[in-house]
Amino acid sequence: MNFYETERAVAEYLLFHYGSPAQLLPYCFGPQNALNFPARCVTECLERSRLPSSARALDLGCAVGRATFELARFASQVIGIDYSQRFIEAAGHLQKHGSIDFEYVEEGELTRRGRALVSVEINRQRVCFEVGDALSLRDELGTFDIVLMANLIDRLSHPSRCLQRIPGLVKSGGQLIITSPYTWLEQYTPKENWLGGLERDGRQINTLETLKLILSPAFELSFAKDLPFLIREHARKFQWSVAEASVWIRK
Ligand SMILES: C[S@@+](CC[C@H](N)C(=O)[O-])C[C@H]1O[C@@H](n2cnc3c(N)ncnc32)[C@H](O)[C@@H]1O
Repeated sequence: MNFYETERAVAEYLLFHYGSPAQLLPYCFGPQNALNFPARCVTECLERSRLPSSARALDLGCAVGRATFELARFASQVIGIDYSQRFIEAAGHLQKHGSIDFEYVEEGELTRRGRALVSVEINRQRVCFEVGDALSLRDELGTFDIVLMANLIDRLSHPSRCLQRIPGLVKSGGQLIITSPYTWLEQYTPKENWLGGLERDGRQINTLETLKLILSPAFELSFAKDLPFLIREHARKFQWSVAEASVWIRK
């Protein structure tokens, strides 16, 4: 069973994307700067000065859509695509109604009720969601001023194949934002397709180095930075990760 089609994943990601600090991390200690990750992918990575007045954006592997909505603050059309039907159903409900109720785990079988809300400052009409496979995107998507791939590459069976399609999706001067903690696992990606985290011919390979090799014919690396994030599994168990964000400008 694909984890991203489970009820648990939907609740975990609704909380991760839309939860308040009090719901996500109800302690006065802990990594407060790891909250609000999907919004920070936009606020901390998007180079706004480069955007045209009417920008198009694509959020690939959008999950339940928070970053897709955040991109609509700066782009007049945003498409969110994810392979998980359950995630896209939840994101579509948020697009239509502006909110969705859900239950998240507190302890064992005990749950709490939550409500995910899209900010009223965001024009939801700018956003649409669809189920799709990052490895075989439909031909008529067009081109974009912004493509965001947040924590997607290490969940793909063939990440380099996906990256090879990206130059054709980004307009000249447009930006590609990739974030990832580079958690390479054979469960998702056969080892021969990992972009880093292993030795080849006696050399240690890291993912950013491979991204540079794949992307540099079409993109200039603008900057890279650490972007911590926190996923709450239950009231007393969290995944604290540090994604590396890299921002690439299409030549
Ligand atoms: C680790 S989650 C990250 C989600 C979101 N971008 C975020 O930062 O919270 C990985 C996402 O990629 C999606 N995904 C996995 N394989 C995919 C594929 N081949 N095409 C599109 N989405 C995919 C999953 O369904 C999941 O929503």
